[in-house]
Formats: sequence, C-alpha cells, structure tokens
Amino acid sequence: MDHLKPLFENNERWAADTARADPTFFARLSHLQSPQYLWIGCSDSRVPANQITGLQPGEVFVHRNVANVVVHTDFNCLSVMQYAVEVLRTRHLIVCGHYGCGGVRAALAGQQLGLIDNWLRHIQDVRDRHAELLAALPDDQARWDCLCELNVIAQVRNVVNTTIVRDAWSRGQELVVHGWIYGLKDGRLKDLDVAIAGAQEKDAVHGAATAALHRRWGGS
Ligand code: CO
Repeated sequence: MDHLKPLFENNERWAADTARADPTFFARLSHLQSPQYLWIGCSDSRVPANQITGLQPGEVFVHRNVANVVVHTDFNCLSVMQYAVEVLRTRHLIVCGHYGCGGVRAALAGQQLGLIDNWLRHIQDVRDRHAELLAALPDDQARWDCLCELNVIAQVRNVVNTTIVRDAWSRGQELVVHGWIYGLKDGRLKDLDVAIAGAQEKDAVHGAATAALHRRWGGS
C-alpha cells in the first residue's frame, strides 16, 4: 500500500492549500454544484477534463468511457446526461475525443481484445460508413487521426438524437452540443465546428461538419 501513500499526502496538501486560498471553497461546494458544462470524454488518463480546460471543481460535470462513445441504450451515460440537463441545467454539452485514442486505433485495426470489442463495434460502424475516405488516406497514422475526428462527430449526432436533448429543446431549454478534439502531443483543444443548438438545425450542422471534415482530409 506504500505506493498509494503519496496520493493521500497530495490530497492533504491540496485540501489545505485550497482552503487557505479560499476559506469558503469547500463549504460553498458542499451545498451546491451548478456546472455550466457536461463533458463526455475518453477514459484515457492523459485527457483530464478539468485540467485541460482550466476548470475548478464544481464547474464541469463529467462522464468518461473508452473512446467517448454515446450509445442509445447506455443507461450510465444517459443518466449522467439526464441529470446534467434536467436537474443541473447545464448549458453546454461537450463531446471531446482525442488524437492517439487507443480505443479508436483498436476499432480501426479490428483488434480482438475481448468484451470491449463489442463497445468498439460502434466506432467500427463509423469507420465503415466512411470507408472510402479512410482508404484514400496516405497511411495508418492519418486514418487513425481522421477516425478520431469522425468518431466525435458521430457521437455528437448520437447525443442530439437522445430523448434527453430532444426533450430539452422541445421545452425551449437552451442547450448547445459541441464536438471537440484534444491533441496529446501539444495539449491543444480543437473545435470540430459541429455545435448544434436546436433540433431544426441538427441535420444541417452535422452534414456540414462531416462535409468539412471530408474536404479537410482530401476526400470529396
Ligand atoms: Co481514448
């Protein structure tokens, strides 16, 4: 257990430093959270939502899974979304993928890793939908990067098609769904320009973002 001791020491130091800098910080947060953002990201240890966006505890509600996949029957992800949208009233829902995603690479290569193959099958569906574009790319690195982007755009589409988002919009609740991607190599976030703010624009925005991606990667 000795190798876990530093975590408790770090925590002790962090709690003390935080309380010193802002004496009401913990009291305030223990009563209420009102995050403006819901983050749906990859479980990858190199993509911590709070750190890369400079957000403090209390500012972002987070759901992470392997390769930031949104599946229509995943009650874990759907419950997070429902709570965030209907109870916390978050205004922005961000799907954030990342280049260098191991889940996306396994899906691309059709690697057999066990149970997770079934989860990654959703990304293979995305791969197969864009097979022509991917086949035309010069190498596996380009195909990997491209599929990481395609996956984000596909998951944004899944998010806006949930009953949670559709119901929020039909109630007139302000809610914008975004698709971003993070670079492990430079620490930079990139907006994939697929922000959708209402049901009437969802197909047009998704179509435009997909077309822009195809142009960017040299397809037609
Ligand atoms: Co990943």
